[in-house]
Amino acid sequence: MTAVGIDAIEIHTGKLKFDLAETLAPVKDKDPEYYTKGIGLAASSFPDTYEDIVTMGANAAYQLMKRRDLSPQDIGRIDVATESSFDNSKPVSTYIAGCLEQVFDGDFHHANKGERKFACISGTQSLDDAYNWIRAGRHRGRSALVIATDTALYARGDAGEATQGAGAVAMLISENPDLVELSTEQGYGSADETDFLKPNQQFPSVDGKRSVQVYLARMREALEDFESVAGDTHPDDFELIPFHTPFPGMVRKAGLLGFRHMIRDTEIEEQLADEIGRQPRPEAFDSDEAYLDAISEYTDKLKGTETYQAWYDDTIAPTLEISREVGNWYTGSVHIARASGLKAALEADQDLAGERLLVGSYGSGAQAEIHAETVQEDWAEEIAALTIDEQIEARRDISFEEYERVHDVHNHDKQAEDVEEFTSPADEFVFDGWGRMGERKYRYVE
Ligand code: CAA
Repeated sequence: MTAVGIDAIEIHTGKLKFDLAETLAPVKDKDPEYYTKGIGLAASSFPDTYEDIVTMGANAAYQLMKRRDLSPQDIGRIDVATESSFDNSKPVSTYIAGCLEQVFDGDFHHANKGERKFACISGTQSLDDAYNWIRAGRHRGRSALVIATDTALYARGDAGEATQGAGAVAMLISENPDLVELSTEQGYGSADETDFLKPNQQFPSVDGKRSVQVYLARMREALEDFESVAGDTHPDDFELIPFHTPFPGMVRKAGLLGFRHMIRDTEIEEQLADEIGRQPRPEAFDSDEAYLDAISEYTDKLKGTETYQAWYDDTIAPTLEISREVGNWYTGSVHIARASGLKAALEADQDLAGERLLVGSYGSGAQAEIHAETVQEDWAEEIAALTIDEQIEARRDISFEEYERVHDVHNHDKQAEDVEEFTSPADEFVFDGWGRMGERKYRYVE
């Protein structure tokens, strides 16, 4: 069967930096380590006044198409995943196609365009749609452009304010991809939940602590469902495990529970038995409560073992490096986790060709998906082309007062217009005001 998967990837970060320890902590009177160690984030990327989900998505796609020397004729489908949309009818992909048509010869009239919504998991759902379209043989030799773009902003004062972010990931999905092949096997965990939602409002209503529990519960279901088709998973099967990363502290929890699940009834559980005992089994307890206490005690001990720490440092920690600097990008988050892990492997001179990743996506509301990926021969060249480190470095560090002003620019109820831009755009698309039907307008700046 011909391989189908991610052929190319480009990441575009919002151009402002909101430093959590230096800038947010003093205003909130919080210990800076709450952000850097507890939540695990150093900073959030924030959109400048002329940036939004369209400019960031279009800029990521523009760079990708330029680098790969693609024309609109090479793309048969543009799917945008976002939970920050500003129109209930006209999809963001039409705006992005309009931007790209300003700079490339030809047009996207032949391309099927859409917008996917299911909180943060819709980026992965769009990958799945593109995969299925190619597998069904409907692509006529063309590739799909999948763009995950979000301004992940919270209401001022919300606990989620520490986990904001803004950026876009553009991915080219093709036959015989250069980066990773997607597995046909998938596992889902899906339930009607109210952990995080935006009922016709811009900023989310969040039950923060519950959202963490729902993430873990759905991820566990998805892993079990994946194993029901792909067979049991083992920690040594995967070089990297990129998870949806609302903040690295969330992934620390998911990684630990995943490891505990994967080592059950394996030689690793046996090897650890002298040090921390074997995992408690529910049938050995009279009540759920007693079992849960015992499993929680075991999990705490497992976290402190060298075996777990070494696995975490190799398999999970590298996937969090970009996220630490940019915050939550909602639909793009799991895709920057994959890129981050592969970039760290390249920097460490690892050859990952033929190795496997296990990818855990999540969207509130709520659904998790687990699938596997196989790293392709040309992965290193593709990852070496990423410019995310340079973009992170070039961001303008904003003060708290500047943050308040630019938050108001992006607040749909305020739309503050008298705020000067903080950075100067070059070779990119910018927001250019409003049209007569309330549409947003964009122009390319040389
Ligand atoms: N130094 C070091 N660590 C500290 C500390 C300090 N001074 N003070 C606290 N901490 C630690 C805590 O011990 C805790 O660690 P553990 O997670 O290991 O227990 C960690 O910092 C976080 O502390 P709290 O749980 O007390 O944090 P909080 O009450 O402020 O809430 C939050 C955190 C619930 C995630 C909040 O930021 C929030 O609501 N975020 C938005 C929702 C969200 O991201 N949910 C994640 C799952 S939903 C999802 O994934 C979809 C999505 O993208 C939104």
